[in-house]
Amino acid sequence: MAVPLRASSPASTVLVCGGAGYIGAHMCKQLAEAGHTPVTFDNLSTGHRWAVKWGPLVEGDLLDEMKLADVFAEYRIATVMHFAARSLVGESVVQPGLYFRNNVTGTLNLLEAMRAANVRSLIFSSTAAVYGIPEYTPLDELHPTRPINPYGWSKLMAEQLIAEYAQAHGLRAACLRYFNAVGADSEGEIGEAHEPETHLVPNIIKAALEPDAEPVTIFGNDYDTPDGTCIRDYVHVEDLCAAHLLAMEYLARHEGGHAFNLGTGSGSSVGEVLAACRALLGGKPQATISSRRPGDPVRLVASAEKARSELGWAPRHTLADAIKHASAWHRAQIEY
Ligand SMILES: NC(=O)c1ccc[n+]([C@@H]2O[C@H](COP(=O)([O-])OP(=O)(O)OC[C@H]3O[C@@H](n4cnc5c(N)ncnc54)[C@H](O)[C@@H]3O)[C@@H](O)[C@H]2O)c1
Repeated sequence: MAVPLRASSPASTVLVCGGAGYIGAHMCKQLAEAGHTPVTFDNLSTGHRWAVKWGPLVEGDLLDEMKLADVFAEYRIATVMHFAARSLVGESVVQPGLYFRNNVTGTLNLLEAMRAANVRSLIFSSTAAVYGIPEYTPLDELHPTRPINPYGWSKLMAEQLIAEYAQAHGLRAACLRYFNAVGADSEGEIGEAHEPETHLVPNIIKAALEPDAEPVTIFGNDYDTPDGTCIRDYVHVEDLCAAHLLAMEYLARHEGGHAFNLGTGSGSSVGEVLAACRALLGGKPQATISSRRPGDPVRLVASAEKARSELGWAPRHTLADAIKHASAWHRAQIEY
């Protein structure tokens, strides 16, 4: 078993919207290990059929209300975990309509389907992007929410819809605001496979392991940080999933809508991540410096104190674990 789990909630059927994606697929594994049945609902826009291994796949789109109603009619769902979203910041800036339709209307459709089926427990994948440019760090949940791109707005709007449904319809909901998800299954059964890949660690690993890979690009080395590169809070995907199981138990005991940051509370700079990868991957890869990306905050680090005190959550894995697990998975994909 990858992560020791507290299997204290009774076995149930959990609808995992976006269960064919990176984090959702790891979640399905943990749900199955804890005795639950994960039913994946996914349109496979960025997810993969091969990633759905721990329960049935219902191929469908959150924009298809009939299909959603069908899945609630077919399965006796106790809890919904909602990972399904488009999540590329740059794409959201050039195609905002795509993001609001998919992430906001999609969430509204899901909430309506849950209400019609009388399903009252929802765990939503939110993001640090709801905060915008930090006014202070580490960021706690009381930090103002002022997103700076359509992706962040779409997540904040979805959070607001969820809060209104909690208020009006007795929905119990946890919005989990992830910082930077990283790593892969510690047993090598699943990993991250985005196309295009925009995340730092898999791109460094690809550049190190793939024979003709380009050097990794570092966007800006003139920030006000010790090595001049941006600082982010990297949290292992298995730790993120463990928080969802705890949130499910929490919602069995607590009414209303809740938000929790999920991060480690300590940041690593791009330069430090690169150095850690080089140390673990034998000196490679090379890196080139490019100009800053507009809207990249210098430092994004979570205070996860609320998740610790209220959910009983604590990240177990280090960044080195995440790099080790992710590189083992990528290496296996190349050899396969
Ligand atoms: N990866 C991160 O670092 C990170 C950080 C913060 C928040 N998040 C959030 O976590 C969630 C999961 O992220 P991920 O990295 O696993 O993304 P992903 O793209 O790998 O997974 C998303 C899944 O949702 C599916 N999907 C998207 N729109 C859908 C729709 N309309 N109907 C049905 N299925 C749909 C996709 O096919 C995919 O399988 C997202 O909501 C993302 O915004 C991720």
